[in-house]
Amino acid sequence: MKILTYPHPTLRRVSKPVRRVDKELHDMVGQMFELMYASNGIGLAANQVDLPLRLFVVNTMADPEEGEELVFINPIVSRPKGSEEKEEGCLSLPSLYATVKRPEQVHVHAYNLAGEEIKAEINGMLARVVQHELDHLDGVMFIDRLSETRLADVRDAVEQFEEDFHSRREVGEFGGDQEIAARLDEIEKRYC
Ligand code: CO
Repeated sequence: MKILTYPHPTLRRVSKPVRRVDKELHDMVGQMFELMYASNGIGLAANQVDLPLRLFVVNTMADPEEGEELVFINPIVSRPKGSEEKEEGCLSLPSLYATVKRPEQVHVHAYNLAGEEIKAEINGMLARVVQHELDHLDGVMFIDRLSETRLADVRDAVEQFEEDFHSRREVGEFGGDQEIAARLDEIEKRYC
C-alpha cells in the first residue's frame, strides 16, 4: 500500500459505501494509519491508497502515542455552521499548502470498524479534516476549493505534479485508466 499523488485517477473516483468489514479491511485500515503517521498527516482517505471505499482515518495529533485514532466509515456531513479560512495540505499533494474556506462546525454521522455509530457536532481542526477527507471520497481535492487567486498562487506546483505523474505513467508505473478501473471494480465487488 502506498499513498497516491495527484492526479492519479483513483483520487477522482467517487467512492462506494462499505457494506462488509473483514479482517483484511481491518489490516488495511491499520496500514493507512501507519502511512499517515509516516508522512506526518492527520487524515487519510481510502481512495488515497487506491481503495475506492467510503472510509477515512483521522488522528489530529499525527502521533500514534497521542490523540485518538478515528475511523469514519460511510460518513455523512450535515448542518454546516459558520465559515473559517485555514491553511490546508494533503498527503496526495506533498509540500503544497493553501488557504481553504470551509464551514467551521458540522455534524458528522458515520460508523467505526466495530460497526458502532458515530454522531457528533464537531468543530476546529477535526471539522476541517473530516470535511477535507469526505471531499476525497467524492473525488474532490482541496485545490478544487481554492479561490481563483489562491489557485493562481499554487498553479506552478500543481502543474509540476501533473507533469511528474504523466512522465511516471509513460514508463508504465500506474497502468492505463481501464486497468486501474478494473482493479477498483474488484475491490468494490468485495466490500460494497
Ligand atoms: Co487530502
